[in-house]
Amino acid sequence: MSHDHHDVAVRIAIVTCSDTRSIKEDTAGDALEAAIAAQGWICVDRVIVKDERDQIAAAIKRAADELEVDVVLTCGGSGLSLRDVTPEATRDVCEREVPGIAEAMRAYSMTKTPFAALSRAICMQRGRVLVINLPGSKKAASENWEALIPILPHAVSMMAGGGH
Ligand code: MTE
Repeated sequence: MSHDHHDVAVRIAIVTCSDTRSIKEDTAGDALEAAIAAQGWICVDRVIVKDERDQIAAAIKRAADELEVDVVLTCGGSGLSLRDVTPEATRDVCEREVPGIAEAMRAYSMTKTPFAALSRAICMQRGRVLVINLPGSKKAASENWEALIPILPHAVSMMAGGGH
């Protein structure tokens, strides 16, 4: 396996999905934005939408189609509450599932807490954009992000047509 993707500055948009948080109180989004910058990557945009399937789907679609990003991270709405509809909204606007990324996040998260099993997060492609569901708490979002760091540059270069 090669790791020669250090020069790829991954471009990322964050869509926080929450009925209760405002942009000022989005601690998980803040942590993700800081973690993206620490990696030398670019947080292009951040928005907050309610836990409404059509609003989440529209925000993912806009970010993927209009912002020239490689990755859209959703944050929150991936649990078992009936208000949690982020995976369904993701499926509404994406074509191809990338199950290994969600599996990798859950496998890593299971070493942190058995509650990782309660994540319904999925990862899918909308064209050349990866859409990845992250959980909504600061701790959970940050831990799942750690699992993504070694994967994203290679994923982005493959989507650009780079292959291996
Ligand atoms: N993953 C990690 N790494 N650490 C965590 O604390 N919390 C879990 C899970 N994944 C957690 C985690 C819990 S309690 C839930 S309910 C799900 O993520 C979904 O979170 P969400 O409903 O905020 O999206």
